[in-house]
Amino acid sequence: DHESRIADLLAQMTVEEKLGQLQQLAWAWDTGPGGGDTAAAEAAARKGLLGSVLNVVGAEASNALQRIAVEESRLGIPLVFGLDVIHGYHTTFPIPLAQAAAFDPAVTAADAEVSAREARSNGIHWTFSPMMDVTHEPRWGRIAESIGEDPYLTSAYAAAKVRGYQGDDLAASDRLAACAKHFAAYGGAEGGRDYNTVDVSEQRLRNLYLPPFKAAVDAGAATVMAAFNTISGVPAHANSHTLSGILKESWGFDGVVVSDWTGVQELIAHGSAADEAEAARRSLTAGVDMEMVSTTFVDHGRELLASGALTEERLDDAVARVLRLKLRLGLFERPYVEESAAITGPTLAARAAAREAAGRCMVLLRNEAGTLPFDPAALRSLAVVGPFADSGDLLGTWTLPGAPEAVTVLAGLREALPDTEITHAEGASAEGTDPSGIAAAVAAAEAADAVVLVVGEAPALSGEAAVRSELGLPGAQERLVAEVAATGTPCVVLLVAGRPLTIGAWADQVQAVVMAWHPGIEAGTAVADVLTGAVVPGGKLPVTFPRSVGQVPLYYNHERTGRPYDPAAPEVKYVSRYLDVEDGPAYPFGYGLSYTTFETGAPRLDHERITAAALEAGATVEVTVPVRNTGDRTADEVVQLYVQDPAASIAQPVRRLRGFSRVRLAPGEERQVRFTLGAEDLGFWTEDPAGVFLVEPGEIHLHTGTSSRTTATRTLLIT
Ligand code: IFM
Repeated sequence: DHESRIADLLAQMTVEEKLGQLQQLAWAWDTGPGGGDTAAAEAAARKGLLGSVLNVVGAEASNALQRIAVEESRLGIPLVFGLDVIHGYHTTFPIPLAQAAAFDPAVTAADAEVSAREARSNGIHWTFSPMMDVTHEPRWGRIAESIGEDPYLTSAYAAAKVRGYQGDDLAASDRLAACAKHFAAYGGAEGGRDYNTVDVSEQRLRNLYLPPFKAAVDAGAATVMAAFNTISGVPAHANSHTLSGILKESWGFDGVVVSDWTGVQELIAHGSAADEAEAARRSLTAGVDMEMVSTTFVDHGRELLASGALTEERLDDAVARVLRLKLRLGLFERPYVEESAAITGPTLAARAAAREAAGRCMVLLRNEAGTLPFDPAALRSLAVVGPFADSGDLLGTWTLPGAPEAVTVLAGLREALPDTEITHAEGASAEGTDPSGIAAAVAAAEAADAVVLVVGEAPALSGEAAVRSELGLPGAQERLVAEVAATGTPCVVLLVAGRPLTIGAWADQVQAVVMAWHPGIEAGTAVADVLTGAVVPGGKLPVTFPRSVGQVPLYYNHERTGRPYDPAAPEVKYVSRYLDVEDGPAYPFGYGLSYTTFETGAPRLDHERITAAALEAGATVEVTVPVRNTGDRTADEVVQLYVQDPAASIAQPVRRLRGFSRVRLAPGEERQVRFTLGAEDLGFWTEDPAGVFLVEPGEIHLHTGTSSRTTATRTLLIT
């Protein structure tokens, strides 16, 4: 079995070979500062002093390097190849934040399965995904990689993505080891500035940031990546409370903790280590098992062992975790990949899955007078304008070099509307302020029956190290929208972006707004599906859209204040609000319209009181919500359940999501949607660093409906 094989190998390994297993080097291209040194990686592999490589792309290249490790090193231990396969390898799915908007974890599972098949066939064993950093920060570029602001939704997606990558058998030829990242609280970076400080209470750490990691570990995530930030003064890479206390000891995680890119060496820049030896000591003893790119473990491990600063037991534990990963992946039996079986591009089936996913992710924010969907028979002419109308740059952040570009919106609409005369004008560039192209866009709009304005952010404005201080449309785009809207031609704005944007006054002047995010390879076809009604939009916002950047952080699951603002009494002075912006978000969490209408009825409970002891022993409460399609199209609705504890020993969020279900209903059809609430849905973690979860007696208010603004309420009494 694996454990005796590990013991056997450990007995044969020198200290240098052990430390070598803890080293990961970057190959030819960079996803961080510094870069790939192929000669250094080959030399280390030959000497048996390398455990892993990241950023090798292609079956041939990975086999060639693997051959050196397996056939030329003393013990022949295979390398494990890692890569950021975040939302696709050849077939790019919508960005993760878009996938979150589907409120359907099956979407992320579909991405993971396609990604795993494509990547593994090309010699990749390990993806640095899923990212599960809950965040309240739309300025932060990495929100695009996240599932948004809610820990419950993020947990459901985290578990589904881990299972989608890993399946039941990591050794299978179409599976990848997953990596739950970034541990922990990276989404809390102050000001949304990447890599910045995170000062977080224990209760917020446990209630907000940790649940998705627990869900991923419970789903079997093979690896976890440490975060770049500090957590209340202690860098995540040196944080024994989170890495050892919570992850390894309390949750029993037996996989690999990998550092982020030079994250160990950066302890020096953080001011937490005086030199590389101290960085290695702090990180290894806190619980990091493998070092990405920097080389402090291999450079200083022996001296740390000699001085007793590092124990042999801890070193062996780290090595055992790396070897366990390789054994689980079946690398000792099958170190190479079949080059002739490598998937070399998106298959038709993979494209179809990406198109379906993109359609499910789109959110209809506004639709006056049934402007959408277009009636193809009645639409004689259409102007498709804006910097992203004829752009293939709609894949989003974290795509692989050489991944095929997206189908453009223009191409998608031309194919879907063969009898409509379609004109195009760019109007303005993605970021430039030159307004001289706007006149042509206005002329195109004036001459058409309707106009689709494709505006937003290029993928380069979101993702790692892509932070903005403004959230409006960049460059001259706001002016473009305003001038095109002023023509009076019915105007549909299609927003492409990796984050929530502040939607300016122009929203009231256009007839419809669709949030398309960065939709991936099938962008244009999926947009055409939605605009023509072949797909009815059913997505919901996984993150609050603020009115202005000055409101940030603005999120639905905030705590209460002693002086809340009451919109019915705007004259009251001493309340919590801004003077210069209307209270609340432009669009709340969970919001999204449809081409049909739905009604949800009052929730019913199977019992209205329950003891805390019964809940702790595993008893549950069932909540049933009737939902009916009251319109004339078959469509999806996301029924949502929120709980609120109005009086607790620790201030509680005004509401928090504890159930969601996306259902498809025909016109007139009614369904009873059932949710189950247990102790973990009704209690909370306290400030106790030892980890104390409480279910307190008292009332719990349940809110059900179709957004976080829902008002249908029932009370459950915990005695
Ligand atoms: O996986 C990534 C991580 O999310 C950010 N820094 C670089 C890593 C490897 O590319």
